[in-house]
Amino acid sequence: MRSLQLLGVYMASSMSVAAEPPLPATEPHSYANPQQIRVREVALDLAVDFERRRLSGTVDLAIEHVDPKARELLLDTRALDIEQVQTRAEKGDWKAAEFKLAAPDRVLGSRLGIAVPGDAQSVRVRYSTVPDASGLQWLTPEQTAGKRQPFLFTQSQAIHARSWIPLQDTPLVRAPYRARIKTPKGLRAVMSAEMHDEPDADGRWRFEMPQPIPSYLIALAVGDLAFKSTGKRTGVYAEPSMLDRAAHEFAETEKTIELAEKTYGPYRWGRYDLLVLPPSFPYGGMENPRLTFVTPSVITGDRKLVSLIAHELAHSWSGNLVTNATWSDFWLNEGFTTYLTYRLTEAQYGQAFGDMERVLGYHDLLDSMERADVADRSLIRETPAADPDEVFSSIPYERGELFLVWLEQRFGREAFDAFLRGWFDDHAFKSATTAQFLAYLQDKLLARQPGKVSAVQLDAWLKVPGLPDSAVLPTSSALTEVEQQRERWLSGKLGTAQLPAKNWAVQQWQLFLDSMPERVTLDQLRQLDARFKLTGTSNQILGSSWLRLRLAAGDKSAWPAAETYLLGAGRMRLITPLYRALAKTPEGLAFAKQVYAKAAPGYHPIAREAVERILRGEQAGV
Ligand code: BES
Ligand code: ZN
Repeated sequence: MRSLQLLGVYMASSMSVAAEPPLPATEPHSYANPQQIRVREVALDLAVDFERRRLSGTVDLAIEHVDPKARELLLDTRALDIEQVQTRAEKGDWKAAEFKLAAPDRVLGSRLGIAVPGDAQSVRVRYSTVPDASGLQWLTPEQTAGKRQPFLFTQSQAIHARSWIPLQDTPLVRAPYRARIKTPKGLRAVMSAEMHDEPDADGRWRFEMPQPIPSYLIALAVGDLAFKSTGKRTGVYAEPSMLDRAAHEFAETEKTIELAEKTYGPYRWGRYDLLVLPPSFPYGGMENPRLTFVTPSVITGDRKLVSLIAHELAHSWSGNLVTNATWSDFWLNEGFTTYLTYRLTEAQYGQAFGDMERVLGYHDLLDSMERADVADRSLIRETPAADPDEVFSSIPYERGELFLVWLEQRFGREAFDAFLRGWFDDHAFKSATTAQFLAYLQDKLLARQPGKVSAVQLDAWLKVPGLPDSAVLPTSSALTEVEQQRERWLSGKLGTAQLPAKNWAVQQWQLFLDSMPERVTLDQLRQLDARFKLTGTSNQILGSSWLRLRLAAGDKSAWPAAETYLLGAGRMRLITPLYRALAKTPEGLAFAKQVYAKAAPGYHPIAREAVERILRGEQAGV
């Protein structure tokens, strides 16, 4: 039904200029009813209790009666203890309100219905979170770099904000937010908002995000955090022992912002800071506005993995400024961002470096395509996924990127850059659907250069499972060289000592290891290790690739090292390939389950779900 609608848009618009279709009133991953009563502002007042592992306090929601007759506000929650709900009319007092919390759905949580009088302007919910809230990770001091203080961080995307704030948890709804966060003495709170260097007299940290953002971008972290400036609007927050290394790694961020501004328009969020998380952070990065959250695994000392920062920064345009309206439009966030990332990376570090990244991305895509269900291989699905976390893969990223590269090639870089800049400007601080993008594309590019792109071709990119034959595939001479050397090494024509790998960038190693043909022998792997000391490498990315390869080759002597690795890391992209490789044999699966039992308490709730899916035999995912 969705796809028919889409088709309607670009078929009709090939004759006349299509108006953009409206945003949908609701979406399948939220119980909210913004078409009746819409949240316009969010104000948090929370205390952080590390002993009981809970946040407690209030959220005040300023509401607008879009439908003047509506008398019930519907919010999303997941496993929250709701203590009290009040409403308030303009200048009035807070009055108790009736509310009902529906039985929980495994994926969506519980709908919270609140009775609101017609004159109510604000709703206050007093609540606390549960210790295993899906959007929070509470770390013991031992799980941090400093080992002395506990740590807390949130991860709200996609639908986990509701596990720590009762709100309209849908990217259809945008609102500015304010917060006051009380922390134990000596611990600092940071959020995706304007910050102050000191807490109030009563120990509360204050925050303000004046621009309207979707709920999945509300973020908080609390820990022993220090700050170091790296540029006029950039800096790094990290635990003190990590601070200098982090600031060195990310010193070139201001330059990346300037490059992005040149093509895509001004950076509209004021500051751009980074927060380095402990190793259990389940993602590489998370584009929380003004404060990107980043895994420590990219801090390698050589700045070779900073395209991750370019990616999160690019979300300041694609994602945070123009937001996917529903999780079925996720490719609008990640496909655009992946395209922007490669553009920024090649502008900053050169074409050859950008090409390597593109080729690795393409390998990820092929890998994900092979594992994904057919329904998940296209950019948009016939029916929405039940759980957005479950269908997370490289497909919306890399296939989305290839789609934009293909469009760029049809219309030329200059026209395409201007088109993208227009898309961001014309939809700034709005949420958008794929159908709206197609209407805009029709209007601004297709109709102006008729005959270059057909509706059938657009369909092939968006709806057909297989990749279109016309895709413009990336190539990298630096990686082709590595492939050739690997071929000669595998067939014995080149000795291990002759591999010129001492000078390889991490990307070359990744290619060498990640797409190693199955005929590699255990003896060859041992020689590699002897020469290049891959076991125990301090580079966590390579560590994962190397262990995966040994596990996949059936090298049982890699098991102890794999266990150590899996106990120390938590980024899903690094740990899931190891669990997946182990799960291939019954014996390996039994071992993986043992390791997981030990490692699970240190993993983020989302990472636990992902690993458990693998241990149950499900193949898709990161
Ligand atoms: N927004 C994503 C992370 C995300 C996606 C969290 C979906 C929850 C649900 C972030 O921008 C991202 O894409 N991170 C990547 C970075 C990589 C592609 C450079 C990651 O974590 O691997
Ligand atoms: Zn992203």
